[in-house]
Formats: sequence, structure tokens, C-alpha cells
Amino acid sequence: MFRKEVYAERRNKLKSMVKEGIILILGNVDVPMNYPANIYKWRQDSNFLYFFGLDYPQMAGIIDVDSGDEYIFGNDVSLDDIIWMGPQPSTAELAQQVGVEHTMPWPGLREKIAEAFDKGRKIHFLPPYRAENKILMESLLGINAHNQKTQASEELIKAVVKLRSVKDEYEIAELEKVMDTAWLMHTTAMKMAKPGVYEREIAGTIEGIALSAGGMLSFPAIVTRRGETLHNHYHGNKLEKGDLLLVDAGAETPLHYASDHTRTSPVGGKFSPMQKDIYEIVLRAQNKAIEAIKPGITNLSVHLKAAQVLAEGLKDLGLMKGDISAAVQQGAHALFMPHGLGHMMGLDVHDMEDLGENYVGYDDEVKRSDIFGTAFLRLGRAYQPGFVLTVEPGCYFIPALINKWKSEGKFSEFINYEKVESYLDFGGIRIEDDILVTENGHRVLGRHIPKTVAEIEEIMQ
Ligand code: GLY
Ligand code: MN
Repeated sequence: MFRKEVYAERRNKLKSMVKEGIILILGNVDVPMNYPANIYKWRQDSNFLYFFGLDYPQMAGIIDVDSGDEYIFGNDVSLDDIIWMGPQPSTAELAQQVGVEHTMPWPGLREKIAEAFDKGRKIHFLPPYRAENKILMESLLGINAHNQKTQASEELIKAVVKLRSVKDEYEIAELEKVMDTAWLMHTTAMKMAKPGVYEREIAGTIEGIALSAGGMLSFPAIVTRRGETLHNHYHGNKLEKGDLLLVDAGAETPLHYASDHTRTSPVGGKFSPMQKDIYEIVLRAQNKAIEAIKPGITNLSVHLKAAQVLAEGLKDLGLMKGDISAAVQQGAHALFMPHGLGHMMGLDVHDMEDLGENYVGYDDEVKRSDIFGTAFLRLGRAYQPGFVLTVEPGCYFIPALINKWKSEGKFSEFINYEKVESYLDFGGIRIEDDILVTENGHRVLGRHIPKTVAEIEEIMQ
């Protein structure tokens, strides 16, 4: 945990940003996997971690904006619990560690909410994303689970997004720590990418690296020879010479700060000329995008810049044609990159996505595009110092999408379908790094993970 002053300060800032009422922040509970006592790996809610820091199940926090009082609710363990779980700190001891004065046993949460409700006070809550908390919220507030997203407090969501978007020095130090684990995961995967090895052997090894560093994966790892499937979680294929292995994986520190990197490596250690051509284009798009990052610039403009570099490279190879600026504006490049350039990262790998992507990624100045591909950009708004985001362009040959567009004659003025069809079995390439926006520009976080063709081929030897 950080020092208790860090959490107290965050709560004080939040109080100053919400006009009146009480703020309810639910922690998570353990979730059964196949019977009640056999649970999924424990993961605390990130908003609760941000404001209350405590990494234990079944806790909730209330911040009374009008009186300034703060409460943590949780059950102290019984002797029976101690027999199974060992001695546990009391809720009061835990609350003290994060600077919260008042604690109540879990049932007190219901009483506190009922009291506020009876007095007609505003109860601010965030949209719950887990079934258990939706049910709890329904029983606390009488709001049907289906309506909780729309009835959540916009004022609170906007305040939380504003605070969590700008990482403080302690958070940046945590993010720096996780980058060492990320480096080891990705360089290990590169070294293992040999013909005859199964994807699952690499997936298991890199997950083990994340676990042995004291944290866990920041999302289910993508380790695949079929990288054209963007979120391919199948790990059962055997690697063959000539494949590209796409590894999109990250870890969390014990305090749950995430990393997220993608590297694409040639199985057997050498890119073919065709693979190298596409790889160099994606790398150029990524480098140009990273170079452009500084406060005030919008991520939408950087996304479009990366798309332009990608499309120009594809035109040089004869895969695209015509006026490339017009092609990008109309979204023709999305045949090859049907996703956004990246997303915010912090306590969540897609930071704050539980609060609503548009609150996190867009604002009054920058609105989400409705064009296929560009519409999937999770972060569009202007950078501020302290933002942490991913830059992850890719180039994919997705047979189903290519066949559909070709049959519709879609963008036939920009796409050379005859040539594209000779790439149907190519797969996909993505390259991803994590970037901190600084006062004057940016910094790529962490130790450099081999990224150029020469660097990757060297480490694979
Ligand atoms: N790393 C997976 C994603 O960004 O969606
Ligand atoms: Mn990512």
C-alpha cells in the first residue's frame, strides 16, 4: 500500500469535486468458479483500491461529502475463519492504515445507506460491473441491475476519471516496477518461439513470470500464431517454422498497476521478406505515433497519423492505392487495422473502462467517430501530463473481413483486393508499448523490449 496520506489526499480531492451527498464505493467479493468455496483468483475493485487501498474482499467505503466523514465497512473474522485463513487484521486496523477514522461491521452499510435515503440525500455510486455487486446495489438502493449504469452518478464518474487519469509520482513508480516483469515475460516468449513448441507452453511460462513477481496477469494473455484474431485466447496450437507468434500480455504489481505490451516474433528466429515488409510498416506507424505524443495533442489525431503511415506503407507494397489521406479519412485502412491505437492504463489495463469508455476517452472537444475502425478508438481526447496510455498499431489479414469487403466492392478505389488475397494466410502483427505523457513530451515506460527486426532476430538466436 501507499502511505495513508496518499489515500486521504485522493479522498479529499474527490470530496472537493462532488457537490453534496454521500459517495458509495463498493469493493469486490470473492467469486465462485465451480462451487461456492472454490473461487477465481481474487481481484479488488480498482476504484476501491484507488481511494481506500485495501486489498481484501467484502469491504465498502462511504465518503460523506457534507460532513467530511469517511467510513469503511467490513466483517472482522471469527475464530472459525481464523482456523481456515489464519489471523487477520481487524477492519479498524486496516482502516487506520489508509487514514479512515470510522469503521462499521458489514451490515452497517445497509443502515448508513437507508439513513441517507430516508433523509433524501443524494447517494452517488459508480456503475457496478460484477453480478455480485449489481445484486448488492439493487438490494441497497432498489435500482434494478439493468438500470444501474444509467442511474450511476455522472458527477462522481467524471470526478473519478479526472483524478485517476493523471498518475501521481507513486503510481508512476509502481508502473515502472511492473515494466521489469513485462520485459522478462516478452523476452522469454521470444526465446521460446521455436518450431514444435505449443502456444500454451509459452502462455504458461509468462503467466508464471507474472505470478512469481508477486502480482498476476493484467488480462488473459494473447499468445498466438493466428494474430489476425485480435483477442485470440486459444493457446492450443503448435508453432511451425514460418509462423508469426503474436504475444500481447501484461502483468500487475502487487498493488495492481498494469503493463500491456505486444510483440510479434518469427517462429524459428528469422522474418521472411514478406513478414519483414509488413513488420517495418507497423513499426514505423508505432514510432511515428509515439514521437507525436505531448500534452495538448489529441490521441485521435495520433491514431489517424499512425493509420496514415500504415496506409502509405501498404500503398508502397501495392496493397492499397489512390489518395491515402482520403482513404484514412473514410476508414479504408481499417480493413488492415480494425481497432484503435490504444487506451489509458493504470490500475486497470484498460483504465477505468468500468466507468464508461466515453467518459474516459472522450470529452466536449473530442467526440467518438462513427466510422468502422476509428470508432473503436478507446481514447480520443487530448493528452495531459501524467496520462499513461498504450500505443499499439497493427496490421492484420482477416479472411472473413477481406472476403466481405471484396464481395461488396467496398473501398475498391483504395484497396487492391487481388494483391490482398495473396496475403490471406499471413496472420497479424501488432507492436505495443506503454507511454507516460510528461510536461513537455513523453517517455516510453520500462526497459526496452526488443522491437526492431534486428533486435528480435538477435534475441531469438
Ligand atoms: N492488450 C489487450 C488490449 O489492449 O485490448
Ligand atoms: Mn493494449
